[in-house]
Amino acid sequence: MTRHRIDQILSRHGYCSRGESRGWLKAGRVRIGDLIAGDPSEKVAISDLRIDGEPVDHPEGVLVMLHKPAGLVCSHDGREGPNIYSLLPERWLRRNPPVTSVGRLDKDTTGLLLVTDQGPLVQRWTSPRHKVVKRYEATVDRDLDPDLVPLFASGTLRLPDDPEPCLPATLTLTGDRTASLELVEGRFHQVRRMFACRGFRVVSLHRSRFGKLELGSLAAGEWTPIEAGAI
Ligand code: URA
Repeated sequence: MTRHRIDQILSRHGYCSRGESRGWLKAGRVRIGDLIAGDPSEKVAISDLRIDGEPVDHPEGVLVMLHKPAGLVCSHDGREGPNIYSLLPERWLRRNPPVTSVGRLDKDTTGLLLVTDQGPLVQRWTSPRHKVVKRYEATVDRDLDPDLVPLFASGTLRLPDDPEPCLPATLTLTGDRTASLELVEGRFHQVRRMFACRGFRVVSLHRSRFGKLELGSLAAGEWTPIEAGAI
């Protein structure tokens, strides 16, 4: 079993910095099995460590599905307003690397958002090469035009300032002003900009699916751990 230094485990998982770890050990907050740990440089199996009596939090990395409510941004920068990280354990932002969202949803968009501290998963699931299907439920400001269906499916729709046309997307009209849209890309404001190309304003937007994963009955503001294989 791989062993790591105690101070590295504490800092990697966001408990404290390596420098602060000696204080944590002195205070008796860290145990190896039943024994109070004394040396921050001691190498231990992560599963043997107890911190304040608890096993190490998400020792294999964080991966959760969050139901993003409206009004929160996905940015880490506090100057951009209240963010989704306020819904998650504070310690996750001190992990190394810290948690981040897999792509972003606009401030007013609700729904399924993945959050992880695993960079390769972010790269895999945001790259259009991997063709991960994202499904959005949109409401627009006037009655929809059925001609949007073949237009979005055509692979010829150009968004202003984007050099490449959008990849084919599947639009299903679900009501006079409501539709579901499945995309494999994740361009900036993509859904709003696709509708705007034909003069529609998206008045509400919700993501209900990411890959194989459905948001289901998870309440707004709640999160739940998932396995990478669920995507
Ligand atoms: N497309 C948008 O326009 N906004 C989002 O939040 C997600 C996709």
